[in-house]
Amino acid sequence: MTKALVTGAVGQIGSELTLALRERYGSDNVIATGHKTEPGETLLNSGPFHFINCSKIDTVAEVVKNYKVNTIYHLAAILSAVAEAKPQLAWEVNINGLYNVLEVAREYGCSLFTPSSIGAFGPTTPLDNTPQNTIQRPNTMYGVTKVAGELLCDYYYKRFGVDTRGVRYPGIISNETLPGGGTTDYAVEIYYEAIKHKRYTCYIKAGTFLDMMYMPDAIKAAIDIMEVDPDKLIHRNAFNVTAMSFDPEIIAAEIKKIIPEFTMDYDIDSVKQAIAESWPNNMDDSTAREEWGWNPEYDLEAMTKDMIEVLSKKLKSKEE
Ligand code: SER
Repeated sequence: MTKALVTGAVGQIGSELTLALRERYGSDNVIATGHKTEPGETLLNSGPFHFINCSKIDTVAEVVKNYKVNTIYHLAAILSAVAEAKPQLAWEVNINGLYNVLEVAREYGCSLFTPSSIGAFGPTTPLDNTPQNTIQRPNTMYGVTKVAGELLCDYYYKRFGVDTRGVRYPGIISNETLPGGGTTDYAVEIYYEAIKHKRYTCYIKAGTFLDMMYMPDAIKAAIDIMEVDPDKLIHRNAFNVTAMSFDPEIIAAEIKKIIPEFTMDYDIDSVKQAIAESWPNNMDDSTAREEWGWNPEYDLEAMTKDMIEVLSKKLKSKEE
């Protein structure tokens, strides 16, 4: 029986993954944890919640021990733009936090899901059709922590037999919890602004292509990779996964099909632009498809239709 702990459960992915896991494994079998941010009512009312601090190993170990956790989804992390502003904090959370969680997983025999990212690549990586195994020399603190995290997870598997698994997520687009300080956040903001104000000022330049994915597919990736027979996995910790690739012009055009009055202009953020330019335009995710059957459901058109439908209802009911 799966007894799961989710770190970062109040965050963009964690808040939705926790609910999906509770649906699948039972409410009491999924322990949500966060750091400082108060959880929303849905999360709080649907099962156990605790505040922990991944930088303090005892706070992680206590929950794992008390609930007899056997599977950890470690989502607590600092995203790319915040990591550039606060590199020391990014190291503390993304590396020391992961190290502590790995140690707890080793001691208590837990499986561990850790997301890596498109940020694990850098300017010298082949940016088109980026292979599974290729040059990884990121020039951001976020990227440094993601590459180190991939290697650390591989090491814990090889050296201690900890069942570590993970994917390299692209930008994740969702309508439940906002992302916190990433480079790809524009692709979420654009939908909110299109619905609320019919216009958006984009901080990423036209022509900058990045991999993206809709949240239901991101959740599917996490659950599928943790449920697959581990004997099938060769690359355990850093599978390229993507669902679509676009630049700001392409997503804006797709939104215009549903909201014809929508307009977009640009005010470029040089830090985020530099980060975006150092990341793949589109990754090759055939290894994930081959090893564990990765197959996303949503393309840009299907995602845009769903995002606008769901968000319009949500934002309208907030107004009332
Ligand atoms: N969405 C993340 C970011 O922009 C990429 O992993 O930081």
